[in-house]
Amino acid sequence: MVQDDATRLLRAAREAIVHAYAPYSGFPVGAAVLTGAGDIFAGCNVENAAYPLGLCAEAAALGAMVSAVGAQRVRAALVVTARRHPSWPCGGCRQRLQEFMAQDAIVYAAGCEGEPISMPFTRLLPLAFGATDIASSMRPDHGL
Ligand code: THU
Repeated sequence: MVQDDATRLLRAAREAIVHAYAPYSGFPVGAAVLTGAGDIFAGCNVENAAYPLGLCAEAAALGAMVSAVGAQRVRAALVVTARRHPSWPCGGCRQRLQEFMAQDAIVYAAGCEGEPISMPFTRLLPLAFGATDIASSMRPDHGL
């Protein structure tokens, strides 16, 4: 049976959320990314008693991807929470995803029940700052 992207991502993110370490927020999160090659990598949030050092699930999923196969174009990502209603990635994770997302990438969000909802990544992070900004700022004629 051929499964669609959202179904595969949801399964991987649900496997990861089981391992979420979220004793401080009580808000477990699972995330998964789908590469252009069709591979899926997942992660969960990992909190810390020093609160700001906690890691978001999306960061863990991207770290798993880069650690396993290096930087890849990501064509879809999914975030799952244990709440009834889906949540979109936080602002920081939108920027983390921006580094790898394909131009037409889709983000899915899922709660503990119902179908995932979807959104083009560019709608979640319009006018994004990215690698091309760095490249142009390093031109010798940038004027600074
Ligand atoms: N969290 C994520 O893992 N991803 C997000 O996009 C939003 C927030 C985590 C961080 C923290 O462990 C918990 O959810 C509550 O903010």
